[in-house]
Amino acid sequence: MSRRPHSDAGFAQPQDGYSVRINATQRPPASAFADRYRTMMQAVWSHPDNDQRPAVLNTLSSWCPPERRILDIGAGAGYYLSALRPRQVIAVEPDPVFSAALHGFASVGRFPLTTFESVGALKDSFDEDWDTDLVLMIHALYYLEESELLWLLPQIGERDLVLVYPDPAGAITMAFEDAIGVEHSRRRLAIKARFLGEPLEVRRVASHFRLQGDIVPDDLAFLIAHLLLRAQGTDWVLEQARAFVAARLGVWRREGFVELPQPQIMELYGRARPG
Ligand SMILES: C[S@@+](CC[C@H](N)C(=O)[O-])C[C@H]1O[C@@H](n2cnc3c(N)ncnc32)[C@H](O)[C@@H]1O
Repeated sequence: MSRRPHSDAGFAQPQDGYSVRINATQRPPASAFADRYRTMMQAVWSHPDNDQRPAVLNTLSSWCPPERRILDIGAGAGYYLSALRPRQVIAVEPDPVFSAALHGFASVGRFPLTTFESVGALKDSFDEDWDTDLVLMIHALYYLEESELLWLLPQIGERDLVLVYPDPAGAITMAFEDAIGVEHSRRRLAIKARFLGEPLEVRRVASHFRLQGDIVPDDLAFLIAHLLLRAQGTDWVLEQARAFVAARLGVWRREGFVELPQPQIMELYGRARPG
């Protein structure tokens, strides 16, 4: 089986020890959905042919100089934080394994970290002196409830914001929603457009979900449908996803891995011009 390593040349990279920290976290009891979701995300993120994260990191590094006071919504395990060298971080992350990894990283990176398990918990502690100057929402927009977005987006105010989301014109998750007539992600994009207006800068990056070649089709179905399964949990959605995968799997096959198109859009909002 041949492996085609992605090119990291020129990209800022997460600090050494990132992979150790995420693996070292303890695994708490969790729902089958949460376990499967985490496993799938880690499979995508750690795949040697992953091209999503280097593409985002490249732009993020040019948009965000070090020493920022960051609010990271849906921070995951802190992959991007580990490259940004923040002065301090407030993170919203419901997954306890990812949150534990964030705390491990903060102790290694020696910056203060406060975590909240939900936007609602952040809201409860909100005050006008929210001590952040940069908000990150990297593949988080479409995980938030509409009520969470309706509160959060107006609070961003004059802070800089980096928003990353799947390109509706080509992303497989959006194609699936369109195919079954569900507007989960499009509704959230409409809300963000209503509150945020025009970004300072937009970049579209071609990228993919890449997974090992022998991946179980049912796992692919879970991956493309997980947002809807989480929100609605219906057998119907999973059945639709299985059929969607069965019809396309041959097209997605590459030598040694499976590749699903997942282009991303990156938007920068705020006062700071990219330097
Ligand atoms: C696709 S991952 C992105 C993680 C990280 N931003 C990255 O790009 O590496 C989405 C993250 O959002 C988190 N999440 C899910 N529901 C959320 C919610 N309602 N509020 C905040 N984060 C949420 C998930 O646990 C997960 O870590």
